[in-house]
Amino acid sequence: MTRVAVIGAGPSGLAQLHAFEQARKKGTDLPEIVCFEQQSDWGGLWNYTWRTGLDEHGAPVHGSMYRYLWSNGPKEVLEFADYTFEEHFGKPIPSFPPREVLYHYITGRAEKDELRRFIQFNTAVRWIAEDSSTGGFEVTVESLTGGHTRVEQFDYVIVATGHYSVPNVPSYEGFATFPGRVMHSHDFRDAHEFAGKDLLVMGSSYSAEDIALQSKKYGARSVTITYRTKAMGFSWPAGIEEVPLLTKMEGNTAHFADGSTRDVAAIVLCTGYRHSFPFIEDALRLRTANELYPPNLYRGVFWLDNPKVMYLGMQDQYYTFSFFDVQAFNARDFVLGRLTLPSSKDMAGDIESWRARQATLAGPSDDIEFQADHLLALSKDVNYPAFDLDLTREQFRRWEHDKEESITGYRDKSFASPCTGMVSPVHHTPWWEEFDDSMATFMGDGSKQADVTAAQAGP
Ligand SMILES: Cc1cc2nc3c(=O)[nH]c(=O)nc-3n(C[C@H](O)[C@H](O)[C@H](O)COP(=O)(O)OP(=O)(O)OC[C@H]3O[C@@H](n4cnc5c(N)ncnc54)[C@H](O)[C@@H]3O)c2cc1C
Ligand SMILES: NC(=O)c1ccc[n+]([C@@H]2O[C@H](COP(=O)([O-])OP(=O)(O)OC[C@H]3O[C@@H](n4cnc5c(N)ncnc54)[C@H](OP(=O)(O)O)[C@@H]3O)[C@@H](O)[C@H]2O)c1
Repeated sequence: MTRVAVIGAGPSGLAQLHAFEQARKKGTDLPEIVCFEQQSDWGGLWNYTWRTGLDEHGAPVHGSMYRYLWSNGPKEVLEFADYTFEEHFGKPIPSFPPREVLYHYITGRAEKDELRRFIQFNTAVRWIAEDSSTGGFEVTVESLTGGHTRVEQFDYVIVATGHYSVPNVPSYEGFATFPGRVMHSHDFRDAHEFAGKDLLVMGSSYSAEDIALQSKKYGARSVTITYRTKAMGFSWPAGIEEVPLLTKMEGNTAHFADGSTRDVAAIVLCTGYRHSFPFIEDALRLRTANELYPPNLYRGVFWLDNPKVMYLGMQDQYYTFSFFDVQAFNARDFVLGRLTLPSSKDMAGDIESWRARQATLAGPSDDIEFQADHLLALSKDVNYPAFDLDLTREQFRRWEHDKEESITGYRDKSFASPCTGMVSPVHHTPWWEEFDDSMATFMGDGSKQADVTAAQAGP
């Protein structure tokens, strides 16, 4: 029997299992699907852990999420087209949920499909190699509870291990003798740690933005953000400011490229992550920066030199859950023989044309159009349910505008579902004043239905 290995039971891996299950429910005979997940439960990054450094098995902790993390984009742009938020929660909910609510949503669909039956938890994939005698793969897995390693044969391998877990950690002069704490955002767990302190945050992307805001919200005395290429340029609340790149630390004193200095007590490096696949042999291993169209992946999914290896969710991400779904439907249909791939030369040409366009993108607005077009192209040959993709493009534009208008207030806005058209209620408490991120409080009686019409709410 044909065997398919899915590595990882985060949102991407679960999307893959869901895609297969949808086909099974419609009468398709499935190959044997085995999902290996190194953690004891599903949800990937959304499965919050307090741990940092090494996990209970002595392996690097996968989780990079932290307490009080709220969605940084409207939930409408990531909604599963075949399992809406309204279906899951039984009522419309506000557009920017905290982590626990999104975790509930992602795993709710998986529970409904009873996907646990495909998954071997506490099982890490240690090595994947082509097996020239069969044309398939040898996959070495380790049971982390039993401590045993075994080798299994598979015909297809789908890698869904995420790429926001292995930190990119630069070093700057003076770090070694800095008397405070230097940490990467991967290890950031609770903004209370910096209450009353002067904090230096390095980076100018989503982690820097959110960790700076969080830290101020939960009591940091000041936050200085140091950027390498370009300031984020938002109208920051009092106590947060952006300065050019750090040149060195001298004791507690940070020196910046514009000649200014600040005394700081701690440093958080929000310097991004590395794609890391130490468990895949060289010939199959994706090597890429965090970009919208990584090299050597046809459709962003199929490994050019051997498309029986597929990667999910490896792009820099504006679209997430619905994008993973559409990728997973492509992978599924290839495995089921419903999707035929062109010649290797044509696939290479297609990759190159996307990457040529990627090279022309001038900023987030272009990036979003690019990724929406990618999602649209992927949807063409598979039967993923239709949703209003153009509405999500507009929503992204509005979201960008909202952030420019108020970086502390953009999460208080309301959007319409691209699947049902329903306008979300406005959350009962402005995000900047909401210190409780629990699902109970978020969903509680305090949440009021939007008194805005769809027209007033905008897209
Ligand atoms: C701090 C932070 C905040 C974010 N916030 C948002 C947000 O607000 N909205 C949004 O849409 N996205 C957000 N993201 C993006 C996030 O990447 C996606 O939402 C999503 O988690 C990606 O899913 P994934 O399944 O591809 O990867 P992951 O969620 O990383 O899951 C990968 C899974 O693979 C498993 N795995 C890894 N290696 C192995 C192995 N060798 N063997 C077995 N199992 C393995 C891991 O244990 C994990 O369960 C955020 C990311 C970060 C880092
Ligand atoms: N829900 C939320 O609120 C939330 C919060 C945090 C993160 N996230 C998600 O997490 C993912 C990762 O975001 P991220 O911000 O961690 O990574 P990222 O988007 O890859 O950004 C990395 C940043 O690090 C900077 N950098 C890299 N190397 C550096 C160096 N040597 N010196 C100085 N700066 C350096 C980069 O600067 P250059 O621009 O100069 O390259 C860039 O600003 C995203 O998908 C994001 O949406 C979501």
